[in-house]
Amino acid sequence: MQLRAQFNYDLQRSVCVNSIVLCRKKFRIHLFSPGDDLQGFFIMHHFSQQEIKRMRHALDLARKGAGYVLPNPMVGAVIVKEGKTIGAGFHERFGGAHAEVNALAQAGNAAKGATLYVTLEPCSHYGKTPPCVDAILAARVARVVVAMQDPNPQVAGNGIARLQEQGVQVDVGLLTAEAVDLNKPFIKFITKHRPFVTLKIAQTLDGRIADAHGASRWISSVEARKLVHQWRFEAGAVLVGIGTVLQDDPRLTIRHADGPQPFRIVLDRNLRIPLTSQLLTDEFAKKTILITSDARSDSLKIEQIAANGARLLQLPLQNGRFELSQVLAALAELGIAHIFIEGGADIASAFLQANSVDRLCVFVAPKIFGAGKTAFQIPGYSAKYPLQLRSASWCAIGPDMLLEADVFAGEQEESRKISNKD
Ligand SMILES: NC(=O)c1ccc[n+]([C@@H]2O[C@H](COP(=O)([O-])OP(=O)(O)OC[C@H]3O[C@@H](n4cnc5c(N)ncnc54)[C@H](OP(=O)(O)O)[C@@H]3O)[C@@H](O)[C@H]2O)c1
Repeated sequence: MQLRAQFNYDLQRSVCVNSIVLCRKKFRIHLFSPGDDLQGFFIMHHFSQQEIKRMRHALDLARKGAGYVLPNPMVGAVIVKEGKTIGAGFHERFGGAHAEVNALAQAGNAAKGATLYVTLEPCSHYGKTPPCVDAILAARVARVVVAMQDPNPQVAGNGIARLQEQGVQVDVGLLTAEAVDLNKPFIKFITKHRPFVTLKIAQTLDGRIADAHGASRWISSVEARKLVHQWRFEAGAVLVGIGTVLQDDPRLTIRHADGPQPFRIVLDRNLRIPLTSQLLTDEFAKKTILITSDARSDSLKIEQIAANGARLLQLPLQNGRFELSQVLAALAELGIAHIFIEGGADIASAFLQANSVDRLCVFVAPKIFGAGKTAFQIPGYSAKYPLQLRSASWCAIGPDMLLEADVFAGEQEESRKISNKD
């Protein structure tokens, strides 16, 4: 039986190849690159439960790189011979050795004739390290099982092709959906040159993100806040509006998790940030980036901001506001691949309105304020054409409920256009 499946890296419609694999049939699948160009032609094997277990092990290893490898992907690798794991590794930090190389180092000479399970196609180019394909060929690995093709245009099927040319058996498509899910920020960054955007909100049962006096500490539980610190670390960059800085004087650091501190980005058109704010005076001031339209008017303030190490990024205004696509492009230029937005209301609404949110995380606390700010004021949607979230899941975090969902930019824009015509 033959099946032609389009495998693109559009995050909204990534094909779940796993469901095909589980049908216990052999398929031929054409894999397509993000530009839908034919990249290769591979025989899809029925993967055994053992093989699924091996790849899941590799995916678990890959996750250990969270927070350390962006803008590179998280990758894990496991080498198996005669039913035994003889090597295992993951990409541990940006610029460091790739997962395959770490696993091969552990396996040593025993890698000859073994099977390598890897969550992302091995690279075929010189980046910060030499091509992994060369290391695999040198180790004389017999078979490579790959969860997903690398969307990086510098690889995009070339790694698989080079292994096949040298007689290595390559099977692609084991746990692909999980591998894609793991690396959504990397995939967006490498294919669209824009950071992945996660918007997080903490609100009461009556939808308030702050009370009538602007106070919001603390809406969510300590359990929720611990999770937020982990997410800050994994994203590597947190963004807020100047309204939140003026109201809360937040630190936006990681205190309930281990790891490097994130960049702290503030949209501050008119440089209203107080020089005494924690973002400018604490030990991580070098990680603060102020996006302003006004980097020359108050030279004394600018000198004082710079003296503490914070950076200023000047962008033009359009109708008195930043064009958020320009903000994201500028942050991508700095190598920022994932932005974790933490408010407030104006920022949350602005990013949603600009179709610039990929993922939404909302904590709902069992509290009612009765008055105060709500998070989302976005014109153009209605009961008939709502801003529809996808793949929504709810779970309890301490006493709070957490909603996680995807926001599909293109479809939302269409929905709003239709709604505006009504
Ligand atoms: N519960 C939660 O999850 C949560 C999280 C964060 C904050 N909060 C609360 O939310 C409140 C703050 O919300 P807020 O709406 O007042 O402030 P905000 O969203 O933090 O910041 C709003 C400001 O950001 C700037 N801004 C936003 N979009 C822009 C754009 N496209 N271009 C240029 N500048 C832009 C504008 O500054 P300019 O003045 O320069 O125009 C605007 O006044 C506080 O009470 C805080 O405690 C709650």
